[in-house]
Amino acid sequence: MAKTVASIVGGRALRDAPGGKLEIRNPARLDDVVTQASLGDAQTFVEASRTARGAQAEWARVPAPVRGRAVQQIGRLVEANKVGLARLITREMGKPYKESLGEVQEVIDTCSFFLSEGRRLYGQTVPSEMPDKQLFTFRAPMGVAAIITAGNFPVAVPSWYIIPALVCGNAVVWKPAEYTPATADAFSQLILHGGVPDGVLNMVLAEGPAAFEGLERGLDEGLVDKVGFTGSTDVGRRIGELTGRHLQSPCLELGGKNPLVVMPDADLDLAVEGCLFSGFGTAGQRCTSLGTVIVHESIHDEFLSRFTRAVESAPIGDPFEDVLYGPMISARFSQRFEGWLELVQPHHKLYGSTATGRITSQNPREGFVGDSDAGLFYHPVIVDGVTMEDELYRIETFGPIVGVASFRTFDDAMELANGHGYGLSSSIYTNDPKSVFRFRERISAGMVSVNNSTSGAEAHLPFGGNRKSGNASRQAGIWVLDQFTRWQAMNWDYSGRLQKAQMDVADVPADLDFRLPG
Ligand code: UN1
Repeated sequence: MAKTVASIVGGRALRDAPGGKLEIRNPARLDDVVTQASLGDAQTFVEASRTARGAQAEWARVPAPVRGRAVQQIGRLVEANKVGLARLITREMGKPYKESLGEVQEVIDTCSFFLSEGRRLYGQTVPSEMPDKQLFTFRAPMGVAAIITAGNFPVAVPSWYIIPALVCGNAVVWKPAEYTPATADAFSQLILHGGVPDGVLNMVLAEGPAAFEGLERGLDEGLVDKVGFTGSTDVGRRIGELTGRHLQSPCLELGGKNPLVVMPDADLDLAVEGCLFSGFGTAGQRCTSLGTVIVHESIHDEFLSRFTRAVESAPIGDPFEDVLYGPMISARFSQRFEGWLELVQPHHKLYGSTATGRITSQNPREGFVGDSDAGLFYHPVIVDGVTMEDELYRIETFGPIVGVASFRTFDDAMELANGHGYGLSSSIYTNDPKSVFRFRERISAGMVSVNNSTSGAEAHLPFGGNRKSGNASRQAGIWVLDQFTRWQAMNWDYSGRLQKAQMDVADVPADLDFRLPG
């Protein structure tokens, strides 16, 4: 049975569909229609922003520990609905069920972290340079936060923005990806049932261009105070330009071309396991997915043969079974992936499967789990012989494809690890602490793994990237509080006089010519 969903503004589902209707099919079984969505348009986004603006001040007046209580209840509700939500995610966008359970757990973890943040949200008391005067700092909410997220993590990544935004006293307009409207509806219902008042969370289903226009208008009308965006570098640039005009700094989490360096002393089987998970988990459609393995030349052949064996024998197919990965998120993702496969050049060698491209009964994959013709399944590809001149080296390829390059010196490895211009996640496999710390110091990425894959960030460490991966804003943990609050400084002079800073400050007489004898 298809779920019928629509935008939710001020607690009301908007069933008229000025932005048209959208049908979402299960990418593992294309004859299964999962969702019928009514889309809003730019005006819907503006109205949602206005509704959020109207609700925000009252929400900000709710004491922060009480807002934290709402977050606690959201966490409990998500936990109680874990199986249903995870099943819906897998059905709507195709990630393996076990990964969907992990994703829902990430929401629960995020709520667990932030429920007590309502009891902290610390400011400081600061000594004044004058007597009878005290200085303080306070965190104030930004106001209305517009959150625009991608379909590959349809609840975990949105929760990284929405939960701290709410606990900090903001109202939210959430524009989820077009690919996962039923999941977005389910998550919104859980948030609203957790005690967040209508209008404090609004969810707008819309196509990207309509949402962008709505955001532009919302900013022009002074209805949006903060933008959080997870998606492509190109759209991130446009959001940066747009918000810059309004003197705002967005929280941007963009693409990656995440390197994994294998040093000569590495535990090769461990490295292979890490490459398998981060290269092909979620069918390579994570922003933390492995881009290029950078292997020392002395172990290149051995690594490649072990990695190839692991990929060749990995189960791929029905995401409700125990598989490494399932289908692509949607037809749009598979079309783009087919384009990236064309970047393979004659000097490359391909490994990892019985064929390349879409898996079908005519183009089969040995050991495929389920009915390949029913969905959008793709062969995994290892591309050996990648060099810095290749487009495949520079471009984020959102799909089950991993490049392999080899290096001689550590400097070469670092050049390969940084030269693509992204800076999200990275990894090194070694047991030598010198290599670990040199890598950490020189890698441009915001996140560094040691003997662990490029994926699988824990929900309470700062998540985010640099250069083409973002503007150095960070989500998650205490670090995201700076995205959703502004610092306010207060001074209170109770001396009964006007004491002028810098001018009316007592001096401390000193004999600065004094020297120790001899
Ligand atoms: C993303 O792909 O946008 O670290 C986020 C990970 C996940 C989050 C990925 N916890 O792979």
